[in-house]
Amino acid sequence: MHTFLFRLNALATFAISTLAALCAVAAFTDVFHASNPVVNVSLARVERLHPVPSSGNDEAFLAFKISADLSSLFSWNTKQLFVWLDASYETPRNVENHVSLWDRIITSREEAVLSLPYVRNKYKLVDQGNYLRNRALNLTMHWNVMPSTGALWHGSKTFSGFRLPKRYTNDRN
Ligand SMILES: *[C@@H]1O[C@H](CO)[C@@H](O)[C@H](O)[C@H]1NC(C)=O
Ligand SMILES: *[C@@H]1O[C@H](CO)[C@@H](O)[C@H](O)[C@H]1NC(C)=O
Repeated sequence: MHTFLFRLNALATFAISTLAALCAVAAFTDVFHASNPVVNVSLARVERLHPVPSSGNDEAFLAFKISADLSSLFSWNTKQLFVWLDASYETPRNVENHVSLWDRIITSREEAVLSLPYVRNKYKLVDQGNYLRNRALNLTMHWNVMPSTGALWHGSKTFSGFRLPKRYTNDRN
């Protein structure tokens, strides 16, 4: 009898604490699952690739195609989004190069739907050296979600498989 009650009690305790844990997990994961940012970034064109005359370092002038729907990142508590596009590549000189190329502050759900077929880099892509020709590039779209109250959080999506031209080019019209 004692054993039975003891077991029943143990079972009930286990069930209640499991349920409480599941509720906590559900509430926690809801924070992350509530948004579904959709992003696509591609390299539309390499307008120019040349060594900068003064320094000799390679510089690339790029144009991107950006389409994104970040509106689901907005909740009642979202003040604004800070989005930026970063290029990363490896060279014999630096294992990792990260260059921020473009950014935007988004203050409403409406502005969070981006359809930009041809965006030039806003910030310069200058290498430390002459390593940009035939260089593989990754493009990463980042977003910081800045709440009215509480902690800022970050997300990103990387697109890989881009490559700069084999030779210096000037394709700018
Ligand atoms: C992303 O954009 C590229 C270039 O425009 C296109 O080929 C590709 O299908 C797009 N991918 C998605 C998931 O929309
Ligand atoms: C580019 O992305 C691929 C796949 O995500 C990764 O394996 C590679 O290390 C990245 N390269 C750079 C330079 O970030």
